[in-house]
Amino acid sequence: MKNLKVGILGATGAVGQQMLIVLAERNFPISELRLFGSARSAGTKIAFKGEEITVQEASLEAFKGLDLLLGAADNDVAKKFLPGAAAMGVHVVDNSSAFRLDPEVPLVIPEVNPEDVKLSKGLIANPNCATIIGLAAVMPLHRYARIRRLVVSTYQAVSGAGKAGIDNLESEVKGNPRSENSCFPYPIAYNLIPQIGGFNDAGYTSEEMKFQNEGRKMLHDDTLRVACTCVRVPIIRSHSEAITIEFERDITPEKARELLADAPGLVLCDDPEAKQYPMPLLTSDQDLVYVGRVRRDLSAEADKFNRSLTLFCCADQVRKGAATNAIQIAELVFGIA
Ligand SMILES: NC(=O)c1ccc[n+]([C@@H]2O[C@H](COP(=O)([O-])OP(=O)(O)OC[C@H]3O[C@@H](n4cnc5c(N)ncnc54)[C@H](OP(=O)(O)O)[C@@H]3O)[C@@H](O)[C@H]2O)c1
Repeated sequence: MKNLKVGILGATGAVGQQMLIVLAERNFPISELRLFGSARSAGTKIAFKGEEITVQEASLEAFKGLDLLLGAADNDVAKKFLPGAAAMGVHVVDNSSAFRLDPEVPLVIPEVNPEDVKLSKGLIANPNCATIIGLAAVMPLHRYARIRRLVVSTYQAVSGAGKAGIDNLESEVKGNPRSENSCFPYPIAYNLIPQIGGFNDAGYTSEEMKFQNEGRKMLHDDTLRVACTCVRVPIIRSHSEAITIEFERDITPEKARELLADAPGLVLCDDPEAKQYPMPLLTSDQDLVYVGRVRRDLSAEADKFNRSLTLFCCADQVRKGAATNAIQIAELVFGIA
């Protein structure tokens, strides 16, 4: 495996900074690392493996010669630069939602649909963070009994809104009033906000629709039904999700636990008597998705009772929900074990 010329677009943000850590931890084979941001951060120096790298203002010219560009910027920035980079022959893995539903762009969770990287025409999208965590958690059960319907409630950390989200919570916790420039519509300290993104005509937010739309694409199943409620909570890192699942075939909680315990990328954390269940404090700053509280759905109709379960999962969304998943995709693209 030759060493690769790697770039990060959005290297100064929450996801970009995490990518630097994950690239170093995984010993990703790098011969040259270029870091890109806006004109605001151009000239800033960032340390990587003992070396100081100067952030450059992003431009197509500056991407020339790269093997891999990791996208960690918002949709408008991604749209401005990434298709051009892919057209220049750079392999691009993007974290924004700009290309996720584009039929020409594979959307990949390595534990769910790794084979889809082969469909890449140069650009691969990383799914929404809550979708990565929830779908990775239920995938071993889907392989066994085929999921027909999901009812999901999320509890999403402020870092999901980027560095600004962390700054807003930390400032409010110190007693400062909500900033006029806050990325949240209400104070987030000692509160929670049942809105992430804008509302559609059916009353769902853009964040809530991602689970169904992106889930259908990755499972290659347009009949998957998802009702999702996304809530921002005053937690720094790690999204949590309560998921009720209706399957096509019968499945017991015991069988589900067995499947979850054997699945790569997951930790079964399910011993309620011993107060063992997934929590953000357990799952932050590591890459595994924790799953627990596996039990029957007591609200299921009698004829669906044996094929319905409910569970709780939790994972670090800056890592598995963004940086790590993107780098795992790059490892698949370049055949890095
Ligand atoms: N945070 C999460 O948990 C998470 C999870 C999954 C997906 N995502 C997605 O990942 C992307 C990055 O999110 P984030 O949370 O890291 O956001 P962030 O902390 O706000 O960082 C945004 C990055 O984009 C750069 N940027 C802004 N305008 C630019 C421009 N005109 N040209 C070049 N670079 C520019 C910023 O650089 P400057 O410092 O120069 O402004 C910064 O490095 C977003 O699309 C987000 O939706 C985030």
